[in-house]
Amino acid sequence: MTEPVFDAAFREQLAQLLAWRRDVRHFETRALPDGLLDTLLDAACHGPSVGNAQPWRFVRIVSPERRKALADTVDAQKHAAGESYSGERKALYDGLKLHGLREAPEIVAVFCDEQGEAGDGLGRATMPETLCWSVVTAVHTVWLAARANGVGLGWVSIIDPNGMNALLEVPAHWRFIALLCLGYPERASETPELVRHGWQDRLPSDITRLER
Ligand SMILES: Cc1cc2nc3c(=O)[nH]c(=O)nc-3n(C[C@H](O)[C@H](O)[C@H](O)COP(=O)(O)O)c2cc1C
Repeated sequence: MTEPVFDAAFREQLAQLLAWRRDVRHFETRALPDGLLDTLLDAACHGPSVGNAQPWRFVRIVSPERRKALADTVDAQKHAAGESYSGERKALYDGLKLHGLREAPEIVAVFCDEQGEAGDGLGRATMPETLCWSVVTAVHTVWLAARANGVGLGWVSIIDPNGMNALLEVPAHWRFIALLCLGYPERASETPELVRHGWQDRLPSDITRLER
């Protein structure tokens, strides 16, 4: 295959993609076109992985009952986590929408297979956690691929990971990494929602230059 050339116009578009990728919690309920979710998850599999282990495992949740169970448990966890705030901060927290589990047309849980044979342990003898980090690279890859297709993705982490294997009936040696909502966003924005709502501003980059 001929090596592609990424020209200045593409780089400009890539910069725009990175700037306009958002964590999305407000979704339209309309379905994604047939096959698009599979295309996006295939793109995720181009992510790098330690030892080329490709430990990502995706579980698409189509059952309304399981979707409701997930939304209910996340709402309960959001409520419980809110107890650690008080005053204005608590009021702000309570008003934040932190998942689109009830509206997003697609819900995907992402796990790391900690017993897969692929990669044969290469690269992770001293840092076994790199296996899970590899799954995170897949999540970021699908995040960008989704945005490039006009699809929003929201990462939901306010959940007890220990309950996920039983809830979704997946093998016990799969480690829960992320719950993803995917669908068309109600609006696009160049500004993260938590910045817009005054929860957390963007910080300047923190790059140390080590000269000796
Ligand atoms: C590991 C991880 C977990 C996250 N969990 C949640 C979550 O549970 N709920 C939520 O609303 N956003 C969650 N987010 C999204 C962040 O809030 C979001 O990335 C951040 O505010 C910056 O916004 P942006 O992604 O639109 O740039 C998570 C992001 C990451 C990387």
